Amino acid sequence: MFSLVCIALLSTFYVHAVADESVRRTGNDPKVLPSCQEIALAISPASAVFMPGVPHSPFRVLLAGVELGAIGSSNYSYDIEHYLFSSTEDSVCSIEPGSVEDLSKTIQIIAKNRVPFAVKGGGHATNPEFSSTCGIHIAMSRFREINYNSTGQTVELGAGLLWDDVYVALEPYGVIPPGARAPGVGVAGFTLGGGKWVSWLANEHGLAMDSVLEYDLVLPNGTFVSVTQDSSPDLFFGLKGGFLFISTDYLDQVNAATMKFMSGVDPKASIITNYEYSNGTQSVIIQLFYNGPNPAPGVFDDFLAIPAQLNNLTTQTFPSLIGSSGAQGVVRGRGNTVSSLGYSETFLKASINESTFWGNKLKNQTGFRSLYSIEPFLPSPDSQSPPGSTAFPSPPSLWSPTSITYLWEDASADPLVLSAITKTAKHLTLVSKAEGQDIDSLLLYSNYAIAGTSITRFYGSNVGRLRKIKYKYDPENVMGLAGGWKF
Ligand SMILES: *[C@@H]1O[C@H](CO)[C@@H](O)[C@H](O)[C@H]1NC(C)=O
Ligand SMILES: *[C@@H]1O[C@H](CO)[C@@H](O)[C@H](O)[C@H]1NC(C)=O
Ligand SMILES: *[C@@H]1O[C@H](CO)[C@@H](O)[C@H](O)[C@H]1NC(C)=O
Ligand SMILES: *[C@@H]1O[C@H](CO)[C@@H](O)[C@H](O)[C@H]1NC(C)=O
Ligand SMILES: *[C@@H]1O[C@H](CO)[C@@H](O)[C@H](O)[C@H]1NC(C)=O
Ligand SMILES: *[C@@H]1O[C@H](CO)[C@@H](O)[C@H](O)[C@H]1NC(C)=O
Ligand SMILES: *[C@@H]1O[C@H](CO)[C@@H](O)[C@H](O)[C@H]1NC(C)=O
Repeated sequence: MFSLVCIALLSTFYVHAVADESVRRTGNDPKVLPSCQEIALAISPASAVFMPGVPHSPFRVLLAGVELGAIGSSNYSYDIEHYLFSSTEDSVCSIEPGSVEDLSKTIQIIAKNRVPFAVKGGGHATNPEFSSTCGIHIAMSRFREINYNSTGQTVELGAGLLWDDVYVALEPYGVIPPGARAPGVGVAGFTLGGGKWVSWLANEHGLAMDSVLEYDLVLPNGTFVSVTQDSSPDLFFGLKGGFLFISTDYLDQVNAATMKFMSGVDPKASIITNYEYSNGTQSVIIQLFYNGPNPAPGVFDDFLAIPAQLNNLTTQTFPSLIGSSGAQGVVRGRGNTVSSLGYSETFLKASINESTFWGNKLKNQTGFRSLYSIEPFLPSPDSQSPPGSTAFPSPPSLWSPTSITYLWEDASADPLVLSAITKTAKHLTLVSKAEGQDIDSLLLYSNYAIAGTSITRFYGSNVGRLRKIKYKYDPENVMGLAGGWKF
């Protein structure tokens, strides 16, 4: 059956149009608090402004009689919270716009007063300041529409939703849009960050981003626009998926099975091989996904033949599969990424060596844990959009975005761990180069990349065109007041 997915994003971070780091990191900017007050007076009761602290904040006295929501309530903490504590920053106030008009007024006041701000969809960004700020924090949490149109096979999604919410809501209809594979990931950041590549359904249905039919946007000058694109993903039903936990005794078998999987042809199947280092011990976690009640014979046999310490593969609903993966509630973390053209055994072994090498170096850091996630998409989950129709150039056939994740607990270890995660990605890049891969020209996946990565590594030759779009739609550089990738 043919289907279309429409994602409506009310979002101010169109094309990540940002620049000028210097105006942003101003934690004590005296213009911020008055701007919070100005916004509180301008918005309708559909929206609310929240402050940290006690109920008797000076803010409430100043604005007696004005409906601001529960000042000092848990909503401030809820608004600024991220799944990693290291990406949460204390803003002066948080704003929950409840209508397009109020979002528009909010961004206009921010633009007029030139105050730092951030926009949060789901809060899964690992880089600080990408969806957090010391200034004004805009939480999109009130945009929660999930309007499924069974005739048109489209769904309208609010920019404050998590994919978890979306999967649960659409499950009764037997519909799965191509979204995130981990829990806690927002619809907005995933999609805008080029989530085009990394859904469980990518092998079968191509790229998540290509399924977007329309974006509803509030531009940096406050003007509301609808932006449309064409696409054609399909409709999906039950599936099979889960985890295998395997000891490092079987690394060779794991690597062989991973290599063999890549030469397979069943697009309903998808895997992630994760080399994990945790609490001084290494292990392998294999995530297997099959879009259907029963995997085709043979697809996962090589993995299933490896003795597993824990095997909880089962036919389960998509929400249950997503809900059972990933780390939540950890304290600090950062990601990095290396792209390669497929995986060689040399690269897999080098990743295991990196995991051991840095694990042993960092194991004294409280709560240290690392994951090297090998993501062998089948050859050519080709873009269904015409070349050049999205900001992210189409990846080549066999494009493999290895995701590296480090988690730890103490802020004092930040410099050490950040240096390590930078070095480990550099080393793996050298390994691929030594194999003759032209890795410098391979695109990186921006949602995995560490802050400081050049945007040409994500957008390639599209950067010039995107800069022009940025200047056209944001001539005053309002988005330069927010964090994120810079044009
Ligand atoms: C606080 O946030 C929660 C969760 O989004 C929401 O249900 C509640 O209405 C909010 N409270 C106020 C006073 O806005
Ligand atoms: C549902 O989709 C159909 C086909 O695209 C369209 O004609 C109809 O207007 C849509 N309904 C709503 C409520 O948007
Ligand atoms: C970490 O390993 C030590 C020693 O093997 C063990 O005592 C401890 O319980 C482990 N901690 C966790 C959180 O697994
Ligand atoms: C699989 O194991 C994970 C980790 O122990 C657990 O969270 C999840 O609920 C399990 N899933 C099933 C379907 O048993
Ligand atoms: C293991 O990794 C370290 C750190 O990148 C590197 O110096 C070393 O040469 C690697 N060893 C092997 C056998 O690849
Ligand atoms: C980790 O701590 C132990 C015990 O304090 C110490 O002997 C060891 O040298 C430390 N290792 C590293 C890599 O710092
Ligand atoms: C806002 O920007 C858009 C796009 O550049 C432009 O079309 C529109 O006229 C602007 N609105 C205002 C009020 O300046």
